[in-house]
Amino acid sequence: MTGHDSLPPQALSEMIGQAKMLVALTGAGLSTSAGIPDFRGPNGLYVTRRYDPIRVFEIDWFRRAPQNFYEFARDFATMAEMIQPTFSHRFLHRLEAKGVLAGIVTQNIDLLHQKAGSEKVIELHGSFQSATCLGCGQRFLDLTYSWWLEIMDNSLKKPIAQCACGSLLKPDIVFFGEQVRQYDEAEALIRNCDLLLVLGSSLNVTPASQLPYETRAPTVIINRGEIILGAGENRFKVDADLDWYLRKVAEHLGPD
Ligand code: OAD
Repeated sequence: MTGHDSLPPQALSEMIGQAKMLVALTGAGLSTSAGIPDFRGPNGLYVTRRYDPIRVFEIDWFRRAPQNFYEFARDFATMAEMIQPTFSHRFLHRLEAKGVLAGIVTQNIDLLHQKAGSEKVIELHGSFQSATCLGCGQRFLDLTYSWWLEIMDNSLKKPIAQCACGSLLKPDIVFFGEQVRQYDEAEALIRNCDLLLVLGSSLNVTPASQLPYETRAPTVIINRGEIILGAGENRFKVDADLDWYLRKVAEHLGPD
């Protein structure tokens, strides 16, 4: 991506100071400093190929050979159970508490926004918080990572999670080949915002990658490395570490 202006932290703090309907669109880069690898960064899952992304994240593969997904899921749940929100997650929560942030649209499935205290979160790609049995249709709600680890470890087809009816259990995360969740709400939120922050996403995956085009409000992208988003009026790109940059913004914002 070329042609975007950068933005000093103080300028962003001033924009935040004037905003009343700030929206954040977040991606995996927000959680790397918590210890969760992203997808397309230097240590991303698509780069290290620790898992085969197609076999793990495509819905047809999940139905045919869920072992691939559940091996990833067991590692993910083990890690996610222990991790804590980053400075950037907590920064967004603080903006919500101040009444500035209208909502977060996230592609992340790690629940770290909620763990930081954020309430207005749209999870486009779902999460492990609920699940559905693909056989009997039973819904499982308010799930924790410990619950998942237990059900995977006690399964007859370990690590594949099964319902009591013996059928395959699917966490309510969005696989490739499925519709994202709450897209219309996300679109409406972004259309009505007066400042959009795009944080830690390469914007490679549709339809989330289309959302920044829905607004003419000032848009500040903070992401280390390339992103797929054309230059536009009022669009700024900061190539920096998120926690580092947002700490500087927070210093300029001062105490609540
Ligand atoms: P990506 O891995 O594509 O993008 C994350 C971006 O964050 C990369 O450009 C990194 O360089 C950058 N980054 C990482 N750590 C950072 C840090 N500390 N500070 C600043 N930037 C940092 O992840 P997403 O765009 O979220 O979908 O990926 C979108 C979707 O692709 C995911 O939700 C997932 C995946 O396939 C599904 O599985 C359906």
